[in-house]
Amino acid sequence: MRTNSLFLDLAEKRVSVRQYTDEPVPRDALERCLEAARLAPSACNSQPWHFVVIDDPEKRRALAAAASGGILPINHFVHTAPVLVAVLATRPNATAAFGAWVKKKTFAMMDVGIATEHFCLQAAEEGLGTCMLGWFNERQVRRALALPTGTRPLLLLTVGKPATPPPPRKRKPLEEIISWNTFT
Ligand SMILES: Cc1cc2nc3c(=O)[nH]c(=O)nc-3n(C[C@H](O)[C@H](O)[C@H](O)COP(=O)(O)O)c2cc1C
Repeated sequence: MRTNSLFLDLAEKRVSVRQYTDEPVPRDALERCLEAARLAPSACNSQPWHFVVIDDPEKRRALAAAASGGILPINHFVHTAPVLVAVLATRPNATAAFGAWVKKKTFAMMDVGIATEHFCLQAAEEGLGTCMLGWFNERQVRRALALPTGTRPLLLLTVGKPATPPPPRKRKPLEEIISWNTFT
């Protein structure tokens, strides 16, 4: 598809990065990523999220261990990331909680996912790589960050300068995922 769209270029640029250099991440770039996340939409404008930015080496090691331990040999690359962000779901406001209960939809998870993608897109704009991680030991993360009740770590994010070129994109073709006017 030929486009002339800055946003599509950015969406194309964001990929999951799984190897980082040890260059530090500029604080102002991180702050813009967090601002992008803050601007995300959420059900009933509940904004049920909190971002814990972890650049302290000891805390980072504890979180990386929570994401890469266990029986499956995955997520070891987390140890190479100079910054991790724990994305927490916090208590939604009463309207969003009621709506989620009536509609049986996990609005807070959607909200957190959208905000996290805002963060990742801004990171791509800054020339930073990210990878969302849903696979980690939640209990270990809770303990490492001393999280209070009413918060839940839904995602960990790795952030840093990519050490390797982006892998090729694997996506279903548009025809497979789109239909017009009726489901086909
Ligand atoms: C909710 C969620 C959880 C994910 N968890 C992991 C993970 O634990 N480990 C990992 O390496 N990648 C994880 N990913 C990254 C996906 O594997 C990746 O987005 C997908 O393969 C598409 O590749 P791309 O991000 O490079 O476009 C996760 C992505 C999402 C959205």
